[in-house]
Amino acid sequence: MDVVGPLERGLAVLRVMSAPGGHRMRPSELARATGLARSTVDRVVATLVHLGHLREIDREVELAPPLMEPGNAYLAGCGIPDALGPVAERLADEFDESVSVAVPDGDGVRFVTQITRRRTMSLAFRIGDLLPAERCAPGPIFAAEWDEAARAAWRARRASPEHFPAVPARPAVEAEEFDRRVAHAAADGWAADDQLIEPGLIAVAVPVRGPSGHTACAVSVVSHTSRHTVASLAEATLPRLREEASAMEAALARVLAERASGGPGAAAAAAAGADPARTAKRELGPEFLQSLARGLTVLCALDGTRSLSEVAESTGLARATARRALLTLEHLGYVEHAGRDFRPLPRVLELGYAHLSSLGFAEIVQPHMADLVRRTHESASMAVLDGDDIRYVARVPAYKIMSVDITVGTRLPAYATSMGRVLLAGLPHTERAARLAGAGPRPITGRTVTDPAELAKIVEGATEQGHAFVDEELEEGLRSLAVPVRDGAGQVVAALNVATHAARGPVEETLAALLPPLTETASRIEADLRAVTRGRRLRLP
Ligand code: PHB
Repeated sequence: MDVVGPLERGLAVLRVMSAPGGHRMRPSELARATGLARSTVDRVVATLVHLGHLREIDREVELAPPLMEPGNAYLAGCGIPDALGPVAERLADEFDESVSVAVPDGDGVRFVTQITRRRTMSLAFRIGDLLPAERCAPGPIFAAEWDEAARAAWRARRASPEHFPAVPARPAVEAEEFDRRVAHAAADGWAADDQLIEPGLIAVAVPVRGPSGHTACAVSVVSHTSRHTVASLAEATLPRLREEASAMEAALARVLAERASGGPGAAAAAAAGADPARTAKRELGPEFLQSLARGLTVLCALDGTRSLSEVAESTGLARATARRALLTLEHLGYVEHAGRDFRPLPRVLELGYAHLSSLGFAEIVQPHMADLVRRTHESASMAVLDGDDIRYVARVPAYKIMSVDITVGTRLPAYATSMGRVLLAGLPHTERAARLAGAGPRPITGRTVTDPAELAKIVEGATEQGHAFVDEELEEGLRSLAVPVRDGAGQVVAALNVATHAARGPVEETLAALLPPLTETASRIEADLRAVTRGRRLRLP
């Protein structure tokens, strides 16, 4: 088999960094953990940093949200989160329990949707986490469809315990016990987990079939022994789960039919165009591993079942190059092919997805804001609109004494702040006017604009220019410049600013120095937010 070495080694680095404790490492540690030469690790890292999948911080590298793109392409292509997500949300509300959706992945079970409602201190799984089939509710449902080879693989895995980092270690489950649960699942169409993962945690699951008639995924309701026994949980939820399973099967068939007739999906369209690895190679020279970059481009473009020609076309790669990448990815277990069609496998989610999908808003924005502060030597903040106020949700102070004393949670009147003005500019006109009038603007300094008509004009100006600048209206000597931060749908969800002193120099110079890094930082934050929130709601602090 003609595997693409750099792609294989790049994925090995990403796997090591996806394991618990590996999300941030020194290149020397990476060399030790992967067994690769230090020079190889350096080139892999340089390439992945250039692609945005890793980020360098001091002497370490860490996983970055754009690495979620391959997983996002898999999730979009499999149709399950899109088709089942809304129903799962509804069921979680109805039962007031966590609801998850998982797919079979070899002899494991991998989560693709999680609606978490945990009140007790039990562990919660993340999208991308892998459980051993014998230790969870969906496992027996999937195992009921295993062939002899799959059963043999399961037995072999249990004989030499590979570890499942998402679950606490427990003594192995007896094979006979698992067989009984598999037979029960096949006969009754549901399965349970009675504290197989950890004491107190229980779940019941039902299968959801794909258009082929095979089980595509399982929906679990997860509870705790403080609220339910397995029997009472099954009694309370199974009738509704079964009812909704048919609705989910119909929704899944509909989504997949749409995907199949719609041609290349969003991921492929986004990747379309000339092979970007070529320009990077010119810029970075031998440090840049073109075939690693191309392999990852292929994985990002694979949002569902695609023919070799479609992959070549959407990535701008030569057919032979795309084919070698696909076959390497197949060899490594990330892609499957039937005839001329290739499709991504759930294992794609093992590449950092669980860690990155669980990052909070502050963790996503913090590194970008720290970088902005390094570049501008000024303090950076982020805020959201909260009534007539802005509320700070993140802040990185510059290392100098500023007169403003602001921390996360601080509120300031929106009308007198640059962030407030770009946030107001993101609202529909009528709502904007109502908030400006309702806020009762009052002079805070001698320069504060308080006339609602003039404020409306300023906010309109912020819409047109894409930024707002406030010069000593909030505090003498304080200037601040803000830009909007938008979510994947283009909605303004937050504002980013840098604050500076009037003494720094003329307004034009301040703007010329601060606006480019500020705008650049906002678009990097937006790219990360898009990757992390694809198909999910953005939870603002
Ligand atoms: C979960 O979604 O957290 C979950 C699902 C099935 C189990 C246990 C936990 O068996």
